[in-house]
Amino acid sequence: MASMRLAHVDSQDFNRAKAEFDQTKAGVKGILDSGILKIPNIFIHPPENLLNNPFPGEYSPNLQVPMIDLEGFEGGKEVKISEIRKASEEWGIFQLVNHGIPVSVLDEMIKGVQVFHEQPKEVKMKWYSREHKQQVKFYSNGDLYESKAVNWRDSVSCHYADGALDPNALPLVSRRAIQNYMERIINLKNTLAELLSEALGLDTNYLESMDCMKTATLVCHYYPSCPEPDLTLGATKHSDPSFLTILLQDGIGGLQVLQRNQWVDVKPVKGALIVNIGDLLQLVSNDKFKSVEHRVLAAPIGPRISAACFFYPSTANNSKPYGPIKELVTDEGGPIYRETDHKEFMSYYRLKGLDGTSSLSYFKL
Ligand code: OGA
Ligand code: NI
Repeated sequence: MASMRLAHVDSQDFNRAKAEFDQTKAGVKGILDSGILKIPNIFIHPPENLLNNPFPGEYSPNLQVPMIDLEGFEGGKEVKISEIRKASEEWGIFQLVNHGIPVSVLDEMIKGVQVFHEQPKEVKMKWYSREHKQQVKFYSNGDLYESKAVNWRDSVSCHYADGALDPNALPLVSRRAIQNYMERIINLKNTLAELLSEALGLDTNYLESMDCMKTATLVCHYYPSCPEPDLTLGATKHSDPSFLTILLQDGIGGLQVLQRNQWVDVKPVKGALIVNIGDLLQLVSNDKFKSVEHRVLAAPIGPRISAACFFYPSTANNSKPYGPIKELVTDEGGPIYRETDHKEFMSYYRLKGLDGTSSLSYFKL
């Protein structure tokens, strides 16, 4: 079906269609609001991207993303740390409850993202940009011109260089929600950096002292409902090019992780945050922790709202080399990766596009 709809489109038409979509500055929501019943061809993904279970026969229906409850964590820190270690080694992702951030802050954040995306087109268009230098911007598909198929989602990104962003740079309709959320998320990241350091068997302050999670980019996604959800995706399979990602999702669902060759739903849990290991933490941990591959399905219902906060090295240090941590390199195995810096890693990641392959293999020794 998908391939039939694509058969007669050549790549020149495709690039023109992408550019026309970009020029509307209205994103995917703009397409939906125009009243279409069929999605434009640029959104149609190849059938192999859409498969539910790529390797039939090995399906275990009961797999679930680990849930970590930080309640009472001072009393039983060792237990929490070993849970985090196991989740980071086996899954590269876990849900976190009782993390100390009130549900009201999370709910306000979801609402804050929704109101931005649901403003009149004319207001939103002013934020539309692909400029790396612009701190706050609205766009659809960061890899629009690199990817083969376009994703059914729009985004707003906010860049916190070394953890700071002038609140006046944020859109007024979402300002308070984002400020309150980010203040808490940055604190939680500091706690997680300690827990993850200990989970790796390192000193509590090890990751913090590496300056590897100082800068944050908050990306606030809006996945409109889709009239043909079986032909497209909200987000193609990828792993995050960060050290660590903290994700908030609303109650709609659609996020999936690839675990033991099958797609596992990351079920929405009220009040929970999702934590996932990024490619760079996999690299410095010498493959002890895994950067999880994930995707987002399109749905006939929506919108689905989420906010992903990516943590990576201090901006001043974007040429600082990071390689496998020496304490984690065993004498027998040796380092798996060469050193790289965040700038080089990102240029490779962008060049490659969200094509479903891992960037990490490029840095293997
Ligand atoms: C991402 C991502 C998942 C989601 O932004 O990298 O994977 O649920 N988002 O929006
Ligand atoms: Ni991601």
